[in-house]
Amino acid sequence: MPNETTTSTETRAFDHQHSSSKGDEWWRSAVIYQIYPRSFADASGDGIGDLAGITERLGSLRDLGVDAVWLSPFFRSPQRDAGYDVSDYCDVDPIFGTLDDFDVLRGRAHDLGLRVIVDLVPNHCSSDHPWFRDALAAGPGSPERDRFMFREGRGENGELPPNNWQSIFGGNAWTRITEADGTPGPWYLHIFDTSQPDFNWKNPWVWEQFRQILRFWLDRGVDGFRVDVAHGLMKKDCLPDIVQVAEAGGLADSISAPDEVPYWAQPEVHDVWRDWNAVLAEYSGDRVLCAEAWVEPLAKAALWVRSDEMHQAFNFSYLGTPWNAARLRSVIDESIAAFTAVGAPSTWVLSNHDVVRHASRYGLSAADASPATGIGPKSADKPDEALGLRRARAASALMMSLPGSAYLYQGEELGLPEVIELDDHVREDPTFHRTNGEVYGRDGCRVPIPWESAAPSFGFSDSGASWLPQPPLFASYARDQQAGNPGSTLELYRAALAARAQFALGTGSVTWLDGFGSDVVALRNGAISVIANTGATAVELPAGELVLASGALESGLLPADTTVWIITD
Ligand code: BGC
Repeated sequence: MPNETTTSTETRAFDHQHSSSKGDEWWRSAVIYQIYPRSFADASGDGIGDLAGITERLGSLRDLGVDAVWLSPFFRSPQRDAGYDVSDYCDVDPIFGTLDDFDVLRGRAHDLGLRVIVDLVPNHCSSDHPWFRDALAAGPGSPERDRFMFREGRGENGELPPNNWQSIFGGNAWTRITEADGTPGPWYLHIFDTSQPDFNWKNPWVWEQFRQILRFWLDRGVDGFRVDVAHGLMKKDCLPDIVQVAEAGGLADSISAPDEVPYWAQPEVHDVWRDWNAVLAEYSGDRVLCAEAWVEPLAKAALWVRSDEMHQAFNFSYLGTPWNAARLRSVIDESIAAFTAVGAPSTWVLSNHDVVRHASRYGLSAADASPATGIGPKSADKPDEALGLRRARAASALMMSLPGSAYLYQGEELGLPEVIELDDHVREDPTFHRTNGEVYGRDGCRVPIPWESAAPSFGFSDSGASWLPQPPLFASYARDQQAGNPGSTLELYRAALAARAQFALGTGSVTWLDGFGSDVVALRNGAISVIANTGATAVELPAGELVLASGALESGLLPADTTVWIITD
């Protein structure tokens, strides 16, 4: 892998021990780039990305203009759910490197002015974690078993699961164990894969372990945590049956699950976030907790970011909004109102490692298609690549103009589409396997990203290896094809992030502009007017200086599926 050189010598290094006064914290307006370590850059040549690979490529993220990186899990794990099945929270999995590699990465990122957020998975661990092994070995009634959710089965001999809960990845949410003496034992709960036993968060021992894990990484200099399944953790006492069981369809479908789902959004979960808030407050440097909570409506998601809880929550309502002006205006209003009411910034996100890339989502004919079910060779609705990219560029330009904090997912700055043509046998997402291939799942957004069009595995790995096969079309999306090319998606993102910083859009506010018609989202944030045309008819633009355009104008008009930023006269 070529050693990265950055295009600028400017250094934005910061003092990560410095605390700002309340209201001025960096995360309120930050652009945070999600690195999916398996698929970002592979220094070892084994075809799986690693920490050393990330360190070598960090300069390109500084050049992109982001403020922070969030790393999906790189902890010890048997990788049955790509690292979201952790077997040691305080060590690096050998496939990704070592703790020393992490320290080097963190140091390099800070030198470049990039903060580092790590992913913490508190709802469950891996069934290979010594805590779960101890629980199996210790036997019924032991303190070790009480760290997890073991229950006797129903039926005459306990042969039926304790309730009717289904795994988010498909199939039953309970697995029966066999005791050491060979007799059938109780069942344990796993809201996700069988290999991901849920913790019993009613047990104070679990609380103490996670405080220690937080401190371990805070002491190592991380700037915060993205908290996995932050609407889970607490289950309703008695574990009642769900009246209407949702079809397995992936994480995003849990957003529409009825309020009474007894394992989501239980009120006691907020006590955990208050406890974690206090742990972070022991440290200087505005450390941040960001909730992955698939909760609607936004006013409810905002409960996760009350002033003594977390600091940010992903805005999945925004992610799920189709390319439609009325819907976009409404979700932007609702987001700002909901988060402002609790004194938190709104966040914005269009893609991540769990959903179909937005460059493909916007090219589907079903505007409201679930973002999380995946697309594969047999899907009836296949995206129109050109249309999807055009809309994605327009949607990203709109998102980057909004006040608050924006999350980008690796590869979206290249306009990467979802990879659809993946053979069944290469797919790794447990969703695909647990639904017998009915739900394609998330492999298509996780394919290693292209850096250099002519290099082996497009520069992902010198060896040419890649844990998921990259399609030939990735060559045209490679970073080296786009860098310095004024019409490219990469240059659009760079220009947007530079202008966002220059005009302080992240700390600005939204005022709606009228008179552009019902298909147009038009707003003003500080000096910048943002006009996004979601309709089919070109619209007239006000006079002014064009700061950026997501696509070419047509005789001065704003064409379909295009966004501009203008400094109006
Ligand atoms: C993560 C997923 C993961 C699941 C279980 C999610 O919310 O983002 O990738 O499969 O949690 O840990």
